[in-house]
Amino acid sequence: MTKIVLGIESSCDETACALVNDRREVLASVVWSQYDEHRRFGGVVPEIAARAHLEKCDVLIQECMNQAGIKFSDLSGVAVAAGPGLIGGVLVGVMSAKAIAFCHNLPFIAVNHLEGHALTAMLTNDVEFPYLLLLTSGGHCQLLEVMGVGKYKKLGATIDDSAGEAFDKVAKMLDIGYPGGPNLEKRAVLGNPKAFQLPIPMKGRDNCDFSFSGLKTAVRVIVDKQSKITETFQNDMCASFQYAVVEQMRDRLNHAIRLFKKDFPNAKDLVVGGGVAANTAVRQMLEDVAQKHQMNFSAPPVRLCTDNGVMIAWAGLQRLNAGLTDAFDFKARPRWPLEELAQKDK
Ligand code: KG4
Ligand code: ZN
Repeated sequence: MTKIVLGIESSCDETACALVNDRREVLASVVWSQYDEHRRFGGVVPEIAARAHLEKCDVLIQECMNQAGIKFSDLSGVAVAAGPGLIGGVLVGVMSAKAIAFCHNLPFIAVNHLEGHALTAMLTNDVEFPYLLLLTSGGHCQLLEVMGVGKYKKLGATIDDSAGEAFDKVAKMLDIGYPGGPNLEKRAVLGNPKAFQLPIPMKGRDNCDFSFSGLKTAVRVIVDKQSKITETFQNDMCASFQYAVVEQMRDRLNHAIRLFKKDFPNAKDLVVGGGVAANTAVRQMLEDVAQKHQMNFSAPPVRLCTDNGVMIAWAGLQRLNAGLTDAFDFKARPRWPLEELAQKDK
């Protein structure tokens, strides 16, 4: 019998849920972005996010079930992003998932949000373990060796801001609106990436770490000196900033690939996940790097890079298949590093 898992995501500013089966089919998927709630604050306000999740979560779950035309009793399990994330929102998803699982006597699966991003490409592309993953989102920027479900080795990570955070903060500085990342990308296309010589932090360092805070400060210094912020200035700064981010990622990836090839000489897959993976310049750079190192680059479609329910349902299904379900006393976690999964699953 086909297994169907319901996945719920509420860890940041998207309320989302989806139904995925073990034939790699998405039976239903709904994403409700809270842009209108947060726009006037120029960023996500945790308390407002939690309340909005509470308002929408059960409505979206019902919509998903209606879309697929199935009942809760047809499910094989209920998965939820149980962390890391803004704890108020995470709690809403976790309580909803526990309630459904408990009432219908179904397995409850606590999914690490990052594992959701990490495994998405396996749903949409023909990717094999082990693969090298660039996980780049609003909360994280890491390079990981993915050996299997729950099996991750971190090669490096940001020592300060995440890439998404830098995109969002620079967008705010330039006053180009929220959500920052997608708006900045649109403006970058119209600007000159060589207009400003911004630093490329970490370039050439003998590790796989990232840093974006100095880059953000460099933008701030130039913006503060500018007497008038014109549209051309905004576009040029967006293009120059995006260029510096992409070049840092290229340098860090080249280093990570050397380590990955030492660990797994026959592995060929380079994968990306997380919201910043929606960026075309980032994807293009990954494609180039993969080609240079004779690797196969796989990226989920853009709608599955930013937060969604499909990635949680899919990761939940993988965990269910591996017998990795959770007890009802599982606590939502604001912090939850991926490497801790291996210890928990032992
Ligand atoms: O994965 P995600 O939806 O949420 C987290 O898990 O954090 O990632 C959201 C982040 C935000 O910082 C957003 O600005 C960024 O991904 N982002 C982008 C683009 N689309 C989303 N950054 C650059 N270019 C984009 N097109
Ligand atoms: Zn995410």
